[in-house]
Amino acid sequence: AEVIIVNNEEAAGRIYAQCVADLIRSKPDCVLGLATGSSPLAAYQALAHKVKDDHLDVSHVRGFALDEYAGLDPSHPQSYRSTITRTVVEPLGLTPDLVHVPNGALDTIRTAGHEYDRMIEAEGGVDVQILGIGTDGHIGFNEPGSSLASGTRIKTLTEQTREDNARFFDNDIDQVPTHCITQGIGTIMKARHLILLAFGDSKAEAIAETVEGGVSSFCPASALQLHPHATVIIDEAAASWLR
Ligand code: F6R
Repeated sequence: AEVIIVNNEEAAGRIYAQCVADLIRSKPDCVLGLATGSSPLAAYQALAHKVKDDHLDVSHVRGFALDEYAGLDPSHPQSYRSTITRTVVEPLGLTPDLVHVPNGALDTIRTAGHEYDRMIEAEGGVDVQILGIGTDGHIGFNEPGSSLASGTRIKTLTEQTREDNARFFDNDIDQVPTHCITQGIGTIMKARHLILLAFGDSKAEAIAETVEGGVSSFCPASALQLHPHATVIIDEAAASWLR
């Protein structure tokens, strides 16, 4: 992977925004892979500004989110559907119907993963996938041990991840869903360009494993080493374990 070390999240966001703006100009109906979490927020903001300043037409841009909680109503404020609407669709002015989030409804979740992968394929695949990384090296909700060839499927959330996310659910872990539906590592690897963003000390060990460790399901993000076009954009703190 190409590693770019930047001063702060805003600088990383500008690199992402420039890359996506160029893509939108050359392919107005491009397909963006979207992530939730804090890492991509500055990138979405930078892109929203660029869309405004450069008068980009984003009405045909399509999107696919990485993951969703299982059994949480899409209208719940903490569902990833709501989060993507709030942080991406609205600020960028995307066409809501063109932006997809995995369907976490319990009655259809066994088949929803396959359908999601088929839909991504039918739309021609993801052009640029933005990624955050967990402190344990997860991407999407693919925790350590996930198959590097996996497709979109239901997964059990680890206790750690549920604790980490309790802050979004009144600090009450019992309100945090126990399962999710997530794009697999194999799904993510099919995107034509991966841009992974990581900031802060807490990500340093995972970034070193990702970039300089062996490729292993114990660090799901290490699969990026096998990708022909992966860009890792990090700040000094997240780079501090690199040799
Ligand atoms: C988000 C996702 C997760 C996060 C990761 C980092 O859709 O799938 O893998 O990217 O947990 O989260 P932040 O950016 O909040 O540190």
